[in-house]
Amino acid sequence: MRISDIIRKIEELKKTRRAVVLAHNYQIPEVQDVADHVGDSLELAIKAMECEADIIVFAGVSFMAEMAAVLNPDKVVLHPEPDARCPLADFLPPSVVREYRMKYPRAPIVLYVNSLLESKLYADYVVTSAAACRLISKLEDEIVIFGPDKNLANYVEETTGKEIITMPPYGHCPVHEYALSIYYVNKALELYENENPVLIVHPEVPRDVRKIAHHVGSTSQMLKIIEKIDKNSTVLIGTEEGLTYRARRLYPNRKIVPVNPQAVCIDMKKISLLSVLRSLERLKYRIQIDPDKVRRAREIIEISIELMRK
Ligand code: 13P
Ligand code: SF4
Repeated sequence: MRISDIIRKIEELKKTRRAVVLAHNYQIPEVQDVADHVGDSLELAIKAMECEADIIVFAGVSFMAEMAAVLNPDKVVLHPEPDARCPLADFLPPSVVREYRMKYPRAPIVLYVNSLLESKLYADYVVTSAAACRLISKLEDEIVIFGPDKNLANYVEETTGKEIITMPPYGHCPVHEYALSIYYVNKALELYENENPVLIVHPEVPRDVRKIAHHVGSTSQMLKIIEKIDKNSTVLIGTEEGLTYRARRLYPNRKIVPVNPQAVCIDMKKISLLSVLRSLERLKYRIQIDPDKVRRAREIIEISIELMRK
């Protein structure tokens, strides 16, 4: 089928089925282009709650689609590629959360949204990268357990001044940890050294990279900061390469380059235009979660979203 036919069919089905497509900032360009909303994890969770549609097709990794399903028990939430998962989440099985709970019974447990649903059920709060520091700084406790991303945990510790117990000590995103290591960052800075490069990074990058970055933020916060950067500077995008497409669309007159074009999240890229179309045609794959788990997860997520929005 030709790409233009796929796009036309997606648009038709969105209308007849009263469906919206939500896409994460790392999705391939064609999927971003057919989406009704493109954003970071927090923005998409909020959009999922606010939209009027009957069906949400979630173009992202599985924990994002699960979040949308938990927040919308009355809507049909479809994930076009159930195999699109976040490997960072697998660092923290629920048994480890329970162990930490027993070991540190007085410290609140805050989980990064990039985690398994089963693990979230044992947490006190769930945060996205956009609001992790904000939420944790609002807690009265001075010692907080945070997982599974060790780099984000370290960023939160340095930003809030609280003591963070990292759970587990070694969890990381393979894309940010390896494809955005100091080696690739130095290479990019050298390549653009005559263009007054400004480095903006996601907090999942290793600490040494974060330390030399000009700005740190969630994917959507990275997009917003570009507006404030000197027009003559080359902007280096220190996160998954998909964000560069979005940034160039928003700022067509700026020079914006990825730190490493090979910083690719294979899971995010599993979703194609064709899988979005199949999802809408066949109403697959529906996210189905046990109602008790939905209730518990919803409780935690709603309290957290309220705190994050403040
Ligand atoms: P954002 O919420 O910043 O978009 O991050 C999601 C993610 O998976 C980063 O790797
Ligand atoms: Fe998970 Fe990393 Fe992919 Fe984000 S980029 S979804 S953290 S594997």
